[in-house]
Amino acid sequence: MKKVTLLLSLIALTLFSGYKAENPLYKDAKQPIEKRIEDLLARMTLEEKVMQLNQFTLGRNDNANNMADPVNDIPAQIGSLIYFGSNADLRNKVQKKAMEQSRLGIPIIFGYDVIHGFRTIYPISLAQACAWNPKLVEQACGVAAQEARMSGVDWTFSPMIDVARDGRWGRVAEGYGEDPYTNAVFTVASVKGYQGKDMSSEKNVAACLKHYVGYGASEAGRDYVYSEISRQTLWDTYMLPYEQGVKAGAATLMSSFNDISGTPGSANHYTLTEVLKNRWKHDGFVVSDWGSIEQLRPQGVAANKKEAALKAFIAGVEMDMMNRCYDNHLGQLVTEGKVPENLLNDAVRRVLRVKFRLGLFDRPYTRTTTEKQRFYLPESMKIAEQLAEESIVLLKNQNKTLPLNKAAKIAVIGPIAQTKWHLLGSWAAQGNAEDVTTVVDALKAEYKGKAEVTYALGCDFDGQDKKNFEEAKNVAANADVVVLCLGEKKNWSGENASRSTIALPQIQEELAVELKKLGKPVILVLSSGRPLELNRLEPISDAILTMWHPGTPGGKPLARVLSGRVNPSGKLSMTFPYSTGQIPIYYNYRQSARPHQGKYQDIQSTPLYEFAHGLSYTTFQYGDLKVSATQIKRGEKLTVEIPVSNTGDRDGVETVHWFIQDPVSTISRPIKELKYFEKQLVKKGETKIYQFDIDPERDLSFVDGDGKRFLETGDYNILVKNKKIKIEIVD
Ligand code: BGC
Repeated sequence: MKKVTLLLSLIALTLFSGYKAENPLYKDAKQPIEKRIEDLLARMTLEEKVMQLNQFTLGRNDNANNMADPVNDIPAQIGSLIYFGSNADLRNKVQKKAMEQSRLGIPIIFGYDVIHGFRTIYPISLAQACAWNPKLVEQACGVAAQEARMSGVDWTFSPMIDVARDGRWGRVAEGYGEDPYTNAVFTVASVKGYQGKDMSSEKNVAACLKHYVGYGASEAGRDYVYSEISRQTLWDTYMLPYEQGVKAGAATLMSSFNDISGTPGSANHYTLTEVLKNRWKHDGFVVSDWGSIEQLRPQGVAANKKEAALKAFIAGVEMDMMNRCYDNHLGQLVTEGKVPENLLNDAVRRVLRVKFRLGLFDRPYTRTTTEKQRFYLPESMKIAEQLAEESIVLLKNQNKTLPLNKAAKIAVIGPIAQTKWHLLGSWAAQGNAEDVTTVVDALKAEYKGKAEVTYALGCDFDGQDKKNFEEAKNVAANADVVVLCLGEKKNWSGENASRSTIALPQIQEELAVELKKLGKPVILVLSSGRPLELNRLEPISDAILTMWHPGTPGGKPLARVLSGRVNPSGKLSMTFPYSTGQIPIYYNYRQSARPHQGKYQDIQSTPLYEFAHGLSYTTFQYGDLKVSATQIKRGEKLTVEIPVSNTGDRDGVETVHWFIQDPVSTISRPIKELKYFEKQLVKKGETKIYQFDIDPERDLSFVDGDGKRFLETGDYNILVKNKKIKIEIVD
């Protein structure tokens, strides 16, 4: 009997331990994520841990002939890959290697720059903000997430939320403009759109807030350079979008290239650890920007790659994007005792956590689908077109030149008119230029049977060649109106695309001058990745609108606005300076010692078009501000309302921007600060009430140089357009 029992227990033990070996806890989808992480971590060797913290690249295109090499080179234990494919085949192949050939079968996380769409490209972020429609941005990011995830991408390096006030910096195109609050609102919207409610769904991806932090302050708009940011400005200008993004659950952040007042963003213990991890309790991970660890050498804070690895890692950068610093040095740094083992474990935990949350351990492979099943779904195109439509800003409309519904002959001229490629904008992921509708084609379709649309190139984007001027003048002379399409090439904005002036090249301005001489109305259509200097073009244009870089919808939304089928409603998310020499110029500058002096002596000191400027084909009249209480105690809240009437002859959509002003405070505060906005349809003859629920702790307070909030007693002004109402906070 004893022998039988012993035998049975032995069999049971063998079976049980066998079961345990084949089905370790971390592979059990029913176990809580934190338990799975600990179980896996306990099994990992030093080398395996280090490899989780590295990111290499995979593939350059879909050409199967090119793929064998990179796949074979990639270690099965690699933590992450940047995936350049547009379908899941290669990803799945490499994932198989990770799952089957690495000892523990840890899935790879595949990342990619899905910035404003994956295949269905919607307008650049700077334009998106001009639509003032966070719900729509959330939906657009949802489209991007679905296309990306179903194509093998788990993680997007987006949103870029660097407040930027220098249009010379090419990367202004990638962010939501000059205002901290606006950036924060769209950060939350995009994180929600990308990650959804459940990151493990096959339609969601992990988001990445970038570039943490202050990259938008790059000196004189030169990319990758020094940025001078005091702690006060760091907090009141640059941190808010990140704080809100972390609160919204963003899985990851990317550390920046820029040097923040002597401490590079990728070696900054204060921002990366003290604030992000300790104070904000972010439990995902930070990836370096491409090479930003290695670049601590040229930035002059590390002598070699090993020291760079040490500095970045200790500061709080968990993953090394294409530096080859961590895979080569981190293990040794741990063995030498320079990097504490618990810090390494913490970093690995963070990476694993995001992988678990993405469901990669349980579903490492991407389901195979056709392009038709994932790209250009009717609903996706609808969202992209609506966003492009709402982001068009009507800057000028003298004598009601627009809408253009009476002309019989429309001449469309300029380098933007026939381009597809340049309308996609920077970072166009897997966007296809062939699928973009040109301005000319869109206008021909829009005016079919109503007006004749003719076309001439006029000139190229730059250079000095005027050989096409004559033809353009002939085409214009034979038309009733000129739609002059000027602007920037796709790669004039985005990374490493700084410009010394934000004026358009002279050849484009000269073309405009020549065409104006014909005496026809000139409608200037702009497409660019930044605000432009228009002081020479503005006086010779009867109407001006910008469609930015609109993405796949191309000229279609513009055509609807020009014809008047759609009433424009966009408003600027970034100031259009009068001249490049005014930069930096932004609406929320701090109060100055002599508000009426210190002006430029040669040009106006005000911008050409200020933040939140944008016209409509109808007119809106703002009534009087009404406040629920003019005096409140700390801890109390209040509501302000304003009636807005549509006094024109057609329906229109109006965004109301609510600003606050604190005239006297412990620190000198901006002359006004945006705290809320609301967009509503106001039908012809109708009046709508817009309402701002003020939470003084949130909306009237300021932060100090360590992010601590203060609400002071005293007077505050609430501003809407040219209306102002005073309220008081008492103890
Ligand atoms: C850019 C990032 C981008 C990364 C990966 C870097 O050069 O600065 O914004 O996400 O490359 O492509």
